[in-house]
Amino acid sequence: MSRDVRRRWWWVLWGLLTVSALGITAVFVPPYLVGGTTVPGLNRAIPGYYVSLVIHAVPAGLALAIGPFQFVTRLRLRWPRAHRIAGRVYLISVVIAAAAAAYSSAVTESGFSLQVAFYLLIAAWLYTGAMAYRTIRRGEVRLHRIWMIRNYALTFAAVTLRLYQLAGLQLMEVWPALEYQQVYIASAWASLFGNAVIAEYFIIQRTLAPLARRRGRSEHAGQQREELVGQAGGAGDRR
Ligand code: HEM
Repeated sequence: MSRDVRRRWWWVLWGLLTVSALGITAVFVPPYLVGGTTVPGLNRAIPGYYVSLVIHAVPAGLALAIGPFQFVTRLRLRWPRAHRIAGRVYLISVVIAAAAAAYSSAVTESGFSLQVAFYLLIAAWLYTGAMAYRTIRRGEVRLHRIWMIRNYALTFAAVTLRLYQLAGLQLMEVWPALEYQQVYIASAWASLFGNAVIAEYFIIQRTLAPLARRRGRSEHAGQQREELVGQAGGAGDRR
């Protein structure tokens, strides 16, 4: 695939990612700003549960919406200060949203399997965010980018979770034995692992492969140079 075609494909993917991130934020977050919810039958009687969802959903939605723009190199180069400020807002939002989710996960009635998935997500979300911050403070730009891809892939679990849930609801129509709880659990685990795997693929394609290609080319050129020098030396010996 040529470089131009590859670049066009990345823009298409970026567009899809951005539209779905903004769409999920626009649909799922605003109800929590006005005391509502998108979850039918959400148990508001559990102490602190609803408040923790508000404190979780609002900054999480902000992080989800900011994220795609942070990956655009042109924006970052043109407005580096805006990138820094948005990056700080993003990471602070992740910390607040993760802390609130830790409480929601403890008291939720969604079941043990989901609680385990949520705590894994929270730990990975905080760890990758901390690594992204640490690497940029040390000036390790490439590593910062890698950790941010990993971190945003976890933020994006909010999108894939809901897409899988939607697909699961369709599946329930043709598979009556399937229950909503099973769909919810499977969607949470699939979004966690699926996004982590896709993030590694992106990291290899966007960051490591170009480096490896460049290094491969310079090693190849070096080998050719050595061979030429060797041949010239051999010719000189014969003379
Ligand atoms: C990746 C890290 C995230 C974790 C660990 C996490 C965790 C949670 C947990 C534990 C709940 C309560 C679910 C229940 O009781 O069954 C929840 C609900 C919710 N989360 Fe997250 N979440 C994350 C990311 C996000 C993002 C990025 C958004 C942005 C839209 C978001 C928006 C919401 C909303 C709106 C709810 C309320 C339920 C709903 O209306 O669908 N979360 N989250």
